[in-house]
Amino acid sequence: MEIRVENGRVAHPFFVEIDSHSGKMDGDATHIKRFLSKLINVFADTDAAKDYLRRHGDTLIYEVYEKDIPEANGEVRFCSSITYPGKIGNEYFMTKGHFHSRPDTAEMYWCIRGKGYMLMEKEDGEHELEEMHPGRVVYVPGYYAHRSINIGNEPLISLPVYPGDAGHDYETMEERGFKHIVVEKNGRPVVIENPRYGRMRG
Ligand code: PA5
Ligand code: NI
Repeated sequence: MEIRVENGRVAHPFFVEIDSHSGKMDGDATHIKRFLSKLINVFADTDAAKDYLRRHGDTLIYEVYEKDIPEANGEVRFCSSITYPGKIGNEYFMTKGHFHSRPDTAEMYWCIRGKGYMLMEKEDGEHELEEMHPGRVVYVPGYYAHRSINIGNEPLISLPVYPGDAGHDYETMEERGFKHIVVEKNGRPVVIENPRYGRMRG
């Protein structure tokens, strides 16, 4: 269904359909696909990432269907976020993660499929990890960077909802990274300090 925008605001009710198995959003949503070749530096073990790339070819780590709602104060933006299962070295597949450009804005994530975590981290590195499973809604307060991590063996699908003017600040995490990462140890997910914290670009 088309969105009717007038004077930079949504001017008419609309709906979308989201397939709860695949996470696919119908209609004219923006479809973002994030492949491993563009995420090498996102993972703590860059050698493992390059090796994975050599062995498996370019791999879709996550994708997002984002409805093109104006990025205006008063609007609500939402998307469908799908993170695939897998690991680079012992670190689980995950999203890049970000602060919001308007850092005080919150976000809620409604998980509809899979098993994982929402890692949330403040500027000073203080962190919270919340489990994500179908039926759970995780509230990410303002000033927390956030990333989804898939610890299961099926796609982790959630529906993020956030203020129209929140924006995405990817720069901080590309440069500095999260202070914590989630890795598998003895078959279980554990949080450890990121060995490349503060120098993600190499
Ligand atoms: O706004 C959000 O937090 C989500 O819609 C994310 O953009 C989505 O999960 C993809 O993650 P990232 O933006 O970190 O690439
Ligand atoms: Ni966000």
